[in-house]
Amino acid sequence: MTEPDPLFVSLRPRFFDGQGIFLSLLFDECQSPSFLRKQESKSCSHLGFVCRLIIVVAFSVRCCYSAPPFNECPGICPMRQPLVAGNWKMNGSRDSINHLLDGILAGIGSVKKSEVAVCVPYVYLQQVCDRLTGTAVAWGAQNINDHDSGAYTGEISGSMLKDFGCRYVIVGHSERRTLYGESEQDVAVRFKAALAHGLVPVLCVGELLQERDRGMTNEVVTRQLDAVIEDVGIDAIGRCVIAYEPVWAIGTGKVATPMQAQEVHAMIRARLAGLSEDVAARVRILYGGSMKPANAGELIRMDDIDGGLIGGASLKAKDFLEICAAAG
Ligand code: PGA
Repeated sequence: MTEPDPLFVSLRPRFFDGQGIFLSLLFDECQSPSFLRKQESKSCSHLGFVCRLIIVVAFSVRCCYSAPPFNECPGICPMRQPLVAGNWKMNGSRDSINHLLDGILAGIGSVKKSEVAVCVPYVYLQQVCDRLTGTAVAWGAQNINDHDSGAYTGEISGSMLKDFGCRYVIVGHSERRTLYGESEQDVAVRFKAALAHGLVPVLCVGELLQERDRGMTNEVVTRQLDAVIEDVGIDAIGRCVIAYEPVWAIGTGKVATPMQAQEVHAMIRARLAGLSEDVAARVRILYGGSMKPANAGELIRMDDIDGGLIGGASLKAKDFLEICAAAG
């Protein structure tokens, strides 16, 4: 295959920052086989590319930074595709899962913008893989072992998850951290194993109620995030999804207010931006913790909230689809 032109490769990181998908599309187009073929035939010059670049930058700046209505460019300005991921936890049976999937598949056609996924108990991966292959719904698991194979009774490796077509795997969920003693180091190695097997880790971070009450939210979330970044490096974070899940909101019906959630999401993004603006602009940060159809819209509308990790409400097709619809 023809290598992309080094000019585009060197320009890409500089122009990608902050302009998101719009410029990404431009550059991807310029690295596409058809573009490269044109380049070979000399019909697409660097000058032509620079002209297109100027037009695109001018238009995207107008879209993103002008006052309404000029800042409303659906499908262009939002840099990150929303993701709504169900976390089924330890729930379901063959029958109930078939019924749930029937409902989700019947309504998924009306979800236009968001990516949708379900993270299911290991033993139902085959069933989910059979039902969801070729549909718009991706699937994944809820944990991963860091070893590839061997004497690790009761554990599941990344290659096994890939065998069942998983795209996502949740790592560091607070229930794993608190009920099963997973340390920050455990989370980091699991994260690394997921990436090594081509899975997208959904890295969960979040504070306990006592920590929030003591004003330690940012400190706790930063520590959880840094434990992974120190191990895998900032570029690897660009290949994951982060889920901010305040522990006090999980399964309790006590949802964070949109402002409370946005503050932490913005803090996470700023932390990442300190290391790489490109990664910070690209990475999707989901909110999780009692997200329901009634509160999903106002949460997902916040600037730094890119979707949800949904527990209880993902077990009812109607509720799950309404949250997906609220995300776009
Ligand atoms: P919840 O769970 O939506 O039931 O609060 C979210 C999660 O634990 O991921």
